[in-house]
Amino acid sequence: MSPLDFTGRCVVITGAGRGIGRGYAMELGRRGASVVINDISAEPAHAVAEEINSAGGVARAIVADLTDPDAGAAIVAQSLEHFGALDAVIVNASINSKRKAFPELSVDDLERMLAVNVFGAWRLLQAAWPHLAATGRGRILLTTSQAGLYGMPRLAEYATAKAALIGLMRTLAHEGASVGIKVNAIAPAATTRLTEETVTDPAALDMLRAMQPPHLVAPVAALLVHESCPVTGETYLAGGAHVSRAFTGETQGLTLPADGFTTEAVLQRWDAVRAETDYRVPRDVSETGDLKQKAEVMRLLKASGIVN
Ligand SMILES: NC(=O)c1ccc[n+]([C@@H]2O[C@H](COP(=O)([O-])OP(=O)(O)OC[C@H]3O[C@@H](n4cnc5c(N)ncnc54)[C@H](O)[C@@H]3O)[C@@H](O)[C@H]2O)c1
Repeated sequence: MSPLDFTGRCVVITGAGRGIGRGYAMELGRRGASVVINDISAEPAHAVAEEINSAGGVARAIVADLTDPDAGAAIVAQSLEHFGALDAVIVNASINSKRKAFPELSVDDLERMLAVNVFGAWRLLQAAWPHLAATGRGRILLTTSQAGLYGMPRLAEYATAKAALIGLMRTLAHEGASVGIKVNAIAPAATTRLTEETVTDPAALDMLRAMQPPHLVAPVAALLVHESCPVTGETYLAGGAHVSRAFTGETQGLTLPADGFTTEAVLQRWDAVRAETDYRVPRDVSETGDLKQKAEVMRLLKASGIVN
């Protein structure tokens, strides 16, 4: 197999009928993957599958609404039936935010967003997990966003759902390590229906389309779901022919004697607590907080069988 070839590998992509997901499907189809095009919309899903197949690739559309509790299992079952194995899953489908200020958003708005992004991803990945594990080199790519990583006004329900996927990604990366599953997240930037609904100035839209076409996200996604993927538990921003890594850093912080750990003492050293010098990027909870104290806490938790 050449370094980034996918021949014989089955990759499921949700929301692959349009936009960024379609870009992933075309890229992976071109690289030889058997691509499962899931979308809630039948016509675009079949069109993408047809485009890949008529270019000599291998693709199949599976029309399913990820908010349907049975969709995840059905997508996995049909992919296995058709392609015999499941090697990677790209969880990409989402709906747009209502773009309202926080006080105007309802719990229903949040539930609608969580239904596709979080519950949809959860059910699909639970159904896929044993099959990905069976390959010994399963790959998962979850889709977060800059709003989920950094926050953006008027996107509270969207940011909440996208940030939830970071916790899921980090945890699945730890759990997947023993069975060869690598799990990462992508925060894409591309001009798609999601952008087109919000940018009203046609000239600005044209410039955005030229600058950030969906196909410029796909090279990064392909790398992250290939069996040679070098990383797990990480988040990458990709768009407009740019890629960078976003990570959670932790300052060195401050430890004081217990009898001196008062609000006043902390306030006095607040600049040191916040200082972005010599920060660290913990790989897991054992590398957080006061490292000496954490090592002792971890030793006690391990001895009690609470952590491995
Ligand atoms: N476009 C951006 O700049 C941008 C930025 C940050 C994050 N994202 C994320 O990237 C992903 C792709 O977004 P896009 O811009 O290509 O959007 P898009 O609207 O062009 O494509 C999303 C696709 O998901 C499908 N979909 C929606 N709900 C579904 C459901 N319940 N079941 C199955 N399919 C469903 C839609 O039919 C559509 O084809 C999303 O997760 C989005 O949140 C996009």
